[in-house]
Amino acid sequence: MATQEPGKKQKQQQQQKTSLLSQGLIGLTWIVLFFFLGSYLITESWTWGYRGKWTNINTYIPRKEMIFTEQELLEFDGSDPKKPIYLAIDGDVYDVTLGGGWYGKGGSYSHFAGKDAARAYVTGCFQDHLTHDTRGLSEDQLKGIDHWKKFYDKHHKYHKIGRVLHEPIPADAPIPKPCKSAVSQKP
Ligand code: HEM
Repeated sequence: MATQEPGKKQKQQQQQKTSLLSQGLIGLTWIVLFFFLGSYLITESWTWGYRGKWTNINTYIPRKEMIFTEQELLEFDGSDPKKPIYLAIDGDVYDVTLGGGWYGKGGSYSHFAGKDAARAYVTGCFQDHLTHDTRGLSEDQLKGIDHWKKFYDKHHKYHKIGRVLHEPIPADAPIPKPCKSAVSQKP
């Protein structure tokens, strides 16, 4: 029985491996093409209608977390159109510049810009509760704050950029009182 030279056999095995790999790559390319083209033809969006964190380019740009004092954060309250707009919720700072219509000068939610107004998000007191003071809030309200954080985290236009450092709230400071002009939660 004729035996193959060891070098030739190795070469054949190598060729088989390469062809398997290229076939796999071609298959994968078709799958990717079908995924995006199919999505566009069916939903007129390249991502099957999904818009969120994973379609946000900023998710893929690694950055160093920025640390702000309350005073520093105030500079990004949307009053200067040349500066980005930042807001904070329970310490986390988000860049919401692309939501300038909401948070910029004259926007319906401009009172949230440049500060940490976590409390107002769940009490609806857009004048009196623009504070990070969450003392006295119910479990549900605290969950509501988390909900809003997730909203900004998962948004297709916004992204987290850092943290704001708050001075500790003195133990004898009064808990903000409920306000009369509270906006109800969005249905
Ligand atoms: C505690 C009460 C509320 C809070 C904290 C709140 C907060 C917000 C925020 C932050 C946005 C901007 C979303 C963005 O950046 O894209 C927004 C959008 C909006 N809000 Fe409110 N809101 C409240 C109550 C209401 C109420 C009572 C209504 C209507 C009856 C309302 C109607 C809307 C509408 C129509 C939009 C834009 C469309 C949307 O994103 O769904 N909101 N709200």
